[in-house]
Amino acid sequence: MTKLQKKETFADAKVMVICMITYSTLENVTKQELFDAFMLSFQGFRITTETTYESFCEMLEHRNYDAAISIGAFDSETGELVSYVLNSMLERDIKTAYDILTGTIPRYRRRGISRTIFEKMKLLLQQNEVKIYTTTVLKNNSEALGLYLSVGFSIKNEVVNTITTPKGSREVFEYEIVMNV
Ligand SMILES: CC(C)(COP(=O)(O)OP(=O)(O)OC[C@H]1O[C@@H](n2cnc3c(N)ncnc32)[C@H](O)[C@@H]1OP(=O)(O)O)[C@@H](O)C(=O)NCCC(=O)NCCS
Repeated sequence: MTKLQKKETFADAKVMVICMITYSTLENVTKQELFDAFMLSFQGFRITTETTYESFCEMLEHRNYDAAISIGAFDSETGELVSYVLNSMLERDIKTAYDILTGTIPRYRRRGISRTIFEKMKLLLQQNEVKIYTTTVLKNNSEALGLYLSVGFSIKNEVVNTITTPKGSREVFEYEIVMNV
């Protein structure tokens, strides 16, 4: 897929670093690599302290994660997966894709990497004849909500979900968001 060249200034080091980011679908990326990127990108979220590699894999399986309609961004110097959007196909009359997880590891944020993934995602979903793209986002996750609204999603509903973990249940307040592909 295409390459993107980005310039980054590290204020403390006062040096300019050229960082090449490459994008591709995720068929050749292991669950361990996905897990590592997930743990870094969701650092500080309560869910990471409750998530093990096994529960992460179970979640992906339960949600029918499909690597062929998911996209990652890689630092081309290190090969590290630095940002990702993991999708599944929902069983609906109108072909609908669902965003299971989206994240960018902290030191790669605010460079437009997620936005670029979503631009590429729209084309990939069109090629797969998907008509609707949907997900839910926590109402208080302003970064993610800002991202989703800026790439073309709009709010459809407010929903209250119950999350159950070994430590108990809790309610989460979310928006259901959708985009016509
Ligand atoms: C949300 C997240 C994926 C954004 O990734 P990113 O690669 O930094 O996003 P981009 O640089 O492509 O930003 C695109 C747009 O999103 C919005 N956005 C991103 N970070 C934001 C922030 N901290 N505050 C407000 N808006 C933000 C902005 O509209 C931004 O456009 P702009 O930079 O031109 O203003 C990243 O912050 C993250 O991993 N958060 C933790 C995990 C998470 O919440 N995932 C989403 C729920 S599954």
